[in-house]
Amino acid sequence: MFKAVRGTKDILPPDTSAWQEVESISRRIFTLYGYQEIRTPIIEDSGLFNRSLGSSTEIIQKQMFTIQRDSDLFALRPEATACVARAYIENDLDKKEGFAKFYYIGPMFRAERPQKGRLRQFHHLGVEAIGSLSPYLDIEVIGLANRILNELGIKDFNININSLGCTEDKKNLAVSLRFKLKDKLTKLCEDCQARFKNNVFRILDCKNEACRHIVETLDLQNDYLCNDCKEHFLKVKSGLDALGINYKVLPHLVRGLDYYTRTVFEITHGDLGSQDALGAGGRYDNLISELGGPMLGAMGFALGQERLMLVKSASENVERSGLVYVVTLGETAKQEAVVLVDALRKAFVYCETDYEDKSLKAQMRQANNLNAAFVLIIGDDELKKRVVVIKDMHTSIQEEIPQDKIIDVVKVKIKC
Ligand code: HAM
Repeated sequence: MFKAVRGTKDILPPDTSAWQEVESISRRIFTLYGYQEIRTPIIEDSGLFNRSLGSSTEIIQKQMFTIQRDSDLFALRPEATACVARAYIENDLDKKEGFAKFYYIGPMFRAERPQKGRLRQFHHLGVEAIGSLSPYLDIEVIGLANRILNELGIKDFNININSLGCTEDKKNLAVSLRFKLKDKLTKLCEDCQARFKNNVFRILDCKNEACRHIVETLDLQNDYLCNDCKEHFLKVKSGLDALGINYKVLPHLVRGLDYYTRTVFEITHGDLGSQDALGAGGRYDNLISELGGPMLGAMGFALGQERLMLVKSASENVERSGLVYVVTLGETAKQEAVVLVDALRKAFVYCETDYEDKSLKAQMRQANNLNAAFVLIIGDDELKKRVVVIKDMHTSIQEEIPQDKIIDVVKVKIKC
């Protein structure tokens, strides 16, 4: 028997409804903030990611799914920022659109060791805004991530922010980190000893217990920031304050990808355990030019959809609040129900009925299991009186409605 590939998962009903709900809420909010959907291929030239994410990052060194075809080396996208940047440049969107805001929803691939909240195929809900250096864009992007989590009913998440500064500041930060870590080098894990030379920032997000402990004791300040970057970061913080968004400045937050400059952020949730990042993002003001485009500021984030599903409370999952279940008693009622169900669906009312000749009790149980908001009952009595009984499943209140009024009544009740 074949099994799903390690680190991949089937998403089955009824979970698919909860996934769709998260996606449709996110799409609504993305659109409200002026972001338009972009769909890029899942497969890209692997060089795109080497160039964008940095050759010494975990993703490039250990996690890319690559496919060799003749002399071409492709990769299943491990993230979408590089893909959106490539598409933006390739399609001349800087000339056509200038400042442009995109969102995407889709699968990403990383060959990580699978565990709770960590998969080899997972999904991102993300945005990329390209063409602005303004700190007000950073505020919008962080505000948008915060808004989506609020709209999804997710509580108790933490927003951590930091600024890496511009390219020069990042160099200063690397020098200062090497200086601070120099005499602790032998206590770091083997990987971090190599990182000390190749990419010292990676030490700050090493998961090794001993390395984490050392990082926590480092006295890190934003003193490597130049005046422009300091001012940028101040504006971002005061904008977030003005919006009433709770955040914490974490000086050791550097993020695992090389393209970041200036503002970076990460959203964590205590219920996630060791893989506690719900999402993350930041500015990448050099990426577009490094990939051959013009010098343009850009900022984005991605939320991990599997992790969102883990922290979304069970009661909020599978919202079928709009469902109307039609209960029938007897053959004539079933025939009437065919027409009624069809008319409800024509009126865009989400409805279900029984096709298994279940008893009244079993049909009511089924309506309950499906979280129906209302049940419509048609039996001999109702047929004689030309009425339909409507039961509000929340309040248990029942009333008789004339058959020719039932569609209008249901439409009104569903909306309120
Ligand atoms: P990232 O931090 O690598 O950032 O991924 C964003 C989120 O994806 C993580 O916070 C986590 O929730 C989820 N995630 C990452 N790896 C896995 C995995 N193996 N299994 C399940 N979920 C995972 C990026 O990818 C950047 N492109 C974000 C960005 C957009 N920065 C600017 N624009």
